[in-house]
Amino acid sequence: MTDLIPELRAPSAPAGTGRVKSGMAVSRVDGRAKVTGQAQYAAEVFAPDLCYGVVVSGTVAKGRITRIDTVDALTAHGVISVMTHENRPKMRSFDIAWKDMTAPAGSPFRPLFSDQIFYSGQPVALVIADTFEAARHAAQLVRVHYDVEEHETNHLERLDEAYEPKKMKAGFTPPSSTGDGEKAFANAPVKIDSQYYNGVEHHNPMEMFASTVIYGEDGHLTIYDKTQSSQNSRWYVSHGFGISKDKVTVRNPYVGGAFGSGLRPQYQLPLAVMGALQLKRSVRVVLTRQQMFSFGHRPETWHRVRLGADQDGTLKAIWHEAIQETSRLEDYVEVIVNWSGQLYACPDVKLGYQVVAHDRFTPLDMRAPGAAHGVHALEVAMDELAYELKMDPLALRLKNYTDVAPIEDKPFSTKELRECYRQGAERFGWDQRPLEPRTMRDGEELVGWGMATGIWDALVMVARVSAVMHADGRLVVSSAATDIGTGTYTAMSIVAAEQLGLPMEKVTFQLGDSTLPMAPIEGGSSHMATVGSGVHGACEKLKKTLLKMATGIKDSPIDGARMRDVEFGDGAIFLKKDPARRVEIASVLREEGKESVEEKFFMTPQMLKQRKYARAVHSAVFCEVRVNEKLGMVRVTRVVSAIAAGRIISAKTAASQISGGVVWGISQALHEETHTDEKYGRFMNHNFAEYHVAVNADIHDIDVIFVEEDDRIVSKQLGAKGVGEIGIVGVAAAVSNAIFHATGKRLRTTPMTPAKLL
Ligand code: MOS
Repeated sequence: MTDLIPELRAPSAPAGTGRVKSGMAVSRVDGRAKVTGQAQYAAEVFAPDLCYGVVVSGTVAKGRITRIDTVDALTAHGVISVMTHENRPKMRSFDIAWKDMTAPAGSPFRPLFSDQIFYSGQPVALVIADTFEAARHAAQLVRVHYDVEEHETNHLERLDEAYEPKKMKAGFTPPSSTGDGEKAFANAPVKIDSQYYNGVEHHNPMEMFASTVIYGEDGHLTIYDKTQSSQNSRWYVSHGFGISKDKVTVRNPYVGGAFGSGLRPQYQLPLAVMGALQLKRSVRVVLTRQQMFSFGHRPETWHRVRLGADQDGTLKAIWHEAIQETSRLEDYVEVIVNWSGQLYACPDVKLGYQVVAHDRFTPLDMRAPGAAHGVHALEVAMDELAYELKMDPLALRLKNYTDVAPIEDKPFSTKELRECYRQGAERFGWDQRPLEPRTMRDGEELVGWGMATGIWDALVMVARVSAVMHADGRLVVSSAATDIGTGTYTAMSIVAAEQLGLPMEKVTFQLGDSTLPMAPIEGGSSHMATVGSGVHGACEKLKKTLLKMATGIKDSPIDGARMRDVEFGDGAIFLKKDPARRVEIASVLREEGKESVEEKFFMTPQMLKQRKYARAVHSAVFCEVRVNEKLGMVRVTRVVSAIAAGRIISAKTAASQISGGVVWGISQALHEETHTDEKYGRFMNHNFAEYHVAVNADIHDIDVIFVEEDDRIVSKQLGAKGVGEIGIVGVAAAVSNAIFHATGKRLRTTPMTPAKLL
């Protein structure tokens, strides 16, 4: 029986919320807990014997540690231990196979593994003290000496110099092409050939990365970790440290944003575990904002896009090549160019992708990894082609619209992108747009309108879900899912409440604990179609069981009724034709002498059906910019984002996901880039003062439209796809295209800072 785990403090909707249906705009059920401080994050959980670890970060990009002086730190007030590669606990499995479930090919970075330095900012010691303050002070007293070797960090910004593509490890499949893109490009009457560059970006969720390891009396580790999967962190700790999985529980009931940075366990987790094992005490390690720039980032990417078309705008050739960085340790790979073979009808598509290795940490998935940069290049190129053709940019997209994914050569399971274009354009007023650039002005500012298309995967994975109906009328649904702020609690609660016809406050969806039924990592926008479909499946099974019990009781008022004859509502089962004939679920359970009934569901994708289709979510993004030519300042004053992502289950949290994605797209377009100091091979602007993100003053009108779509191939149960990532895709391209429309100046790199406009 899957019971409520009190420590998780799983939220429910407030009393009076009542009955809900999918598609309704319900406020997030975890909202109150978050704003009142009831929600506990990884760094907030307390244990009586808790001590505090502070990480000492390395300062060179490559080389070896020759000596670490820890005497001053060890003699400082309150210090318990200073752990380095020399005195860390020895673990056989740490030394051989230490991989998380999401690790790319290669050998993952292991903190305090040896004297070898792989990147600047690498953790080189952990100072543990009675208080956080003592640990932080002593961390400054650790002196690390290095034998420095020459590093390489910036390849892509100087592509004119020779670079060596990394030889990829086994398992890598280059992107497929179709037809002869090269020849078709050569023969096309109208062409564009442009290069694009996107710099490094960092995730920067509001919550710091933290792990609190509570050391139990029997040596059991209960770990509160900031992660997008409690079960991935448990896997990593139990395998890495050779601890039986029953002796490790990982919890993440509340996560303050992650955006992909929590897809892999971060180094504070193994460090806190090492500390706890060494001291047999509870240990908490929280990283600083600066340290959060030292464990993965959206990789910098260089593109060359060549498009060829007929005079009427019919695409003849798409040729997209990209080069992306990775570390020396791992072959991090992104799906960057593949979208260019999925978005438009084109017989000849050539895609190329290479990776170059250097001395930085392995890049890491960040919201719409691959698409955020890849689709940017393609969609700016499409805009360039539209001007070359003297054609409206939206008309060019419609001219090349396809219901079949060209490279896969399969129809899309559903694709309501045409409706996105139509509704988005109408809401924006696109038909009022003059074709020529530099034709709209408002006082000091030039005004421009731009648009772009977005695409992202419609992923489904496997999950197990338990649904328990209690005699007191409460429904508890559980899965080891995650809510990184995306609305998982809310959306899953809506599905369950609707299925059982219960007021939403009677439903609790419990997530964030590795002992709960298996769930995938919260990534790839797959939670709704995966866990959500699982919730639906578990509730369906529960309804069947309850109906069987209800028809079986003595003198049942619904005797002989089948599922199609009845409805579930407000804690009862009643006949559709005669609602007066009803059975209270609570009384059924009492009659059977049960406190509760549980059903479990194993959600698996419909592989055979899915294989026949290409599966994706789509968007059409329209935006207005105002550019002050004297200052080079850009304001994005209006964005309309029209989304086709299957049935929308939780309208409010889904819309928040999209507007959040748009905010980030604007931020990516105008502000975000982490610069590397080549001399030291380190990120320079590793703080919020110098790494700029969009703030309230940068954001104006954002209008989100969900067009109707119902995809029973992706999710038989819900017809839903996912909305986590599509919101950002295409936004930066729409901004870039609007800037061209305003100024006549084509910007092909992000971020589009004032300096580039002057
Ligand atoms: Mo997302 S980048 O799969 O968290």
